[in-house]
Amino acid sequence: MTMLERFEHYKTSVKEIDDDHYELFEKLDEVHSHAKEFKRNPELFRESLKQLRNILFDHFEHEEKVMLEKNYKHTNYHKMEHNELRTRMSRILDMNPSSLYYVTTILDELEVVIVKHIDDWDIPSEKNRGVTVAG
Ligand SMILES: [Fe+2]
Ligand SMILES: [Fe+2]
Repeated sequence: MTMLERFEHYKTSVKEIDDDHYELFEKLDEVHSHAKEFKRNPELFRESLKQLRNILFDHFEHEEKVMLEKNYKHTNYHKMEHNELRTRMSRILDMNPSSLYYVTTILDELEVVIVKHIDDWDIPSEKNRGVTVAG
């Protein structure tokens, strides 16, 4: 199943956030398909990873702005979580995979950095929208 086929399960109901997530899922599918071609063309895989990082970092910035505007609960914790994921994503880019083992590790890590985060943070955040609580 592709990421885009799973997209419906990850909707937050905030259109501008969902649009960003859609773009992330699209790029993640591309990363997966380039992973399959890794032996033949590793550069293609690395290039799509860089593009994914850029989309992700832009998205975190955008989402933080939206959370502040809409007074989300736990915005500061959510931002700290983004910072942690920025570090993890940067580490992925530093890995310079030379074997399929690393490619698999990277794909697992992306699942945590992108998909699990949406499930654990972005979707619950939307449920708490409008509740002003420090932290
Ligand atoms: Fe988030
Ligand atoms: Fe998000």
